[in-house]
Amino acid sequence: MIELKNVHKTFTRKEMTIEALKGINLKVEKGDIFGVIGYSGAGKSTLIRLVNYLERPTQGQVLVAGRDLGTYNDKELRAAKKSIGMIFQHFNLLESKKVFDNVAIPLVLLKKNKNEIRKRVQELLEFVGLSDKAGSYPNELSGGQKQRVGIARALASNPSILLCDEATSALDPQTTQSILQLLKRINAEYNITVMIITHEMSVIQEICNKVAVMEEGRIIEQGSVLEVFGHPQHATTQNFVKTVIQNSMTPSVQKSIKDKHGNLLYKLNFVGENASEPILYEMIRSCDIKFNILFANMTEIQETTLGTMIIQIHGDRSQVDKALDLLKRHEVGVEEVESYVLDINNK
Ligand SMILES: Nc1ncnc2c1ncn2[C@@H]1O[C@H](COP(=O)(O)OP(=O)(O)O)[C@@H](O)[C@H]1O
Ligand SMILES: [Mg+2]
Repeated sequence: MIELKNVHKTFTRKEMTIEALKGINLKVEKGDIFGVIGYSGAGKSTLIRLVNYLERPTQGQVLVAGRDLGTYNDKELRAAKKSIGMIFQHFNLLESKKVFDNVAIPLVLLKKNKNEIRKRVQELLEFVGLSDKAGSYPNELSGGQKQRVGIARALASNPSILLCDEATSALDPQTTQSILQLLKRINAEYNITVMIITHEMSVIQEICNKVAVMEEGRIIEQGSVLEVFGHPQHATTQNFVKTVIQNSMTPSVQKSIKDKHGNLLYKLNFVGENASEPILYEMIRSCDIKFNILFANMTEIQETTLGTMIIQIHGDRSQVDKALDLLKRHEVGVEEVESYVLDINNK
């Protein structure tokens, strides 16, 4: 649906060159809710602006629906842009125009007739839950309502892709939730592929099925949300995951472990079905070991349970190995944790 191949973007300002993107490769499939997360300045907005050709790549290709946007003539490009809607952090509404007219803008540009416009705008306002606000001005609306207007406007031309640049970053948590649920509905009911740029991991956790993590113009990690949350590789990704999944031990437990060197500590990761099976019960029944649970946590991502547990095992080495084998056979992720490592996330 969307593919970026070795995309570079360099800005030149007053003899200064800024390499905003340094060789981006990514693929968004039809139906995805694809999240791109990174700190400020990572290059996220530049990346999303390339997808609807608000910016052109310095090098590399941006393909939408299989075709390189660089090969379009102006007319084709206008048509291609029609199939891509975009919403913004600060909504970008025309303050002097009523809600109805804001939503109607793309339709007016497409030279639709009045009746068509009226019908379509009413339909869109109903979909976003703002039928009663058609005659209001943007400054009479809350932030969440303004974003709903932005969404209605973005959907007006029936796009197949919706791009969201920090669309919930100016909203409170509850309003963020309702906007994210609306984006989910747009994806499911209209089969619109959604690409979301954010610096908040909770947004990714809430609605994305895939995620790419950006840092300094590069993608440092990408994959399914479940994979990336379950096994974050890069320190930056681990930091993002930490903001939504608490997976370290409490300080007092850390201290008690630190005082007892030489214990065998393991971090176990359970994903999906194995999070609800009595695997640990089977482990103590079949192996001659004892264990302590030092930490346990469960999170739900993509309607799948993700569990993390840190256990301390006592027993003969051979029995411990047998227990670990059993866990691995059940596809439980097993990592040895050094007892002197206080923060397991920084291991
Ligand atoms: N039009 C531009 N001209 C010059 N530099 C830019 C321009 N747009 C973005 N940049 C620079 O590119 C880098 C990435 O910016 P951006 O894509 O906005 O990051 P993010 O959205 O992740 O915060 C930053 O260093 C920024 O200053
Ligand atoms: Mg940005």
